[in-house]
Amino acid sequence: NVHKIAVLAGDGIGKEVMPEGIRAVDAAAKRFNIGIEWTSFEWPSCDYYLKHGKMMPDDWKEQLDGYDALFFGAVGWPDTVPDHVSLWGSLLKFRRQFDQYINLRPVRLLPGVPCPLANKQPGDIDMMIVRENTEGEYSSVGGRMFEGTDREFVLQEAIFTRTGVDRVLKFAFELAQKRPKKHLTSATKSNGISISMPYWDERVDAMSAGYPEIRHDKYHIDILAARFVLSPERFDVVVASNLFGDILSDLGPACAGTIGIAPSANLNPERSFPSLFEPVHGSAPDIYGQNIANPIAMIWCGAMMLDFLGYTEAHDAMVAAVERCLVDGPRTPDLGGTASTTEVGMAIASII
Ligand code: NAI
Ligand code: MG
Repeated sequence: NVHKIAVLAGDGIGKEVMPEGIRAVDAAAKRFNIGIEWTSFEWPSCDYYLKHGKMMPDDWKEQLDGYDALFFGAVGWPDTVPDHVSLWGSLLKFRRQFDQYINLRPVRLLPGVPCPLANKQPGDIDMMIVRENTEGEYSSVGGRMFEGTDREFVLQEAIFTRTGVDRVLKFAFELAQKRPKKHLTSATKSNGISISMPYWDERVDAMSAGYPEIRHDKYHIDILAARFVLSPERFDVVVASNLFGDILSDLGPACAGTIGIAPSANLNPERSFPSLFEPVHGSAPDIYGQNIANPIAMIWCGAMMLDFLGYTEAHDAMVAAVERCLVDGPRTPDLGGTASTTEVGMAIASII
């Protein structure tokens, strides 16, 4: 059973961290006897855009559909292509067209990583943020009228469907079920957003009836953001709509240290389409070309990918290797070290 993986390195440091992600997955595949077949694509990327006037060929969906997973670096090169063009022309198409309705971000304070919050020890922060990834506040329903006049108005609707809400909640409850704390927090704002958020709360209560062992609570997004910073140790699984989840899933990793280690996954849990695994960080033009980008986020994404393909032991071994490297070194400059991307990647692969 060989898993076909599409390699989409993209732009900037995406091209530098990708080889280290592959190296680490190959090491785990060798140790746990997993068949992996990599295929590299030159798109989506801003280089491709400059040659062809688009981020990807028109038949991108047909070309990628047969793969078991998409291993994605980062796209964006703002000097030559505006960011909304590079992101809407690639990543956002994948999320929608491949119905990757779960955006999953593990947030953990790991040993050896300086924490920006006071008095936090490794182990204090260990949560999973589950963001709805296809509907909610990020709809394209709306419009503008009377532009440039005093009567100008702009309208953008949020869309919450029962299917869309229930499937993300179900995923989050199932995930909480598998974790020792069995605790789920829902982000809401039903005191201010008086139609959609009470509906969201109602669906959380309905779903919770099927999971009696799980403790669940809800917080309004404003106080929830404050609590992420003040007392992150109280959270386990956190589920949120598209917009709230977007904010929390950047805030969470920021509370747990450098952006160079944070991974994420865009999942289609039914496996009707390939899922996509990508670091939280972007293409980092400011450090590109020096071989100093931290490859750990990309490597951790590789671990999540193997987990999703069914290899939990391989995932655990990869994360353990990352943790050991964070303690013993080598480290890239963002963590105060002097090692290169390649040195860190090779060290982690050899631990695996
Ligand atoms: P960024 O994440 O690329 O960089 C932010 C800061 O973090 C920079 O100072 C960078 O040097 C540092 N950094 C990021 N990753 C690092 C790593 N692995 N090791 C060490 N330091 C690291 O975000 P920025 O600068 O806002 O965006 C740059 C480009 O990336 C833009 O074109 C943006 O649209 C794109 N982008 C793409 C994403 C994606 O493909 N999913 C996500 C975020 C941004
Ligand atoms: Mg974001």
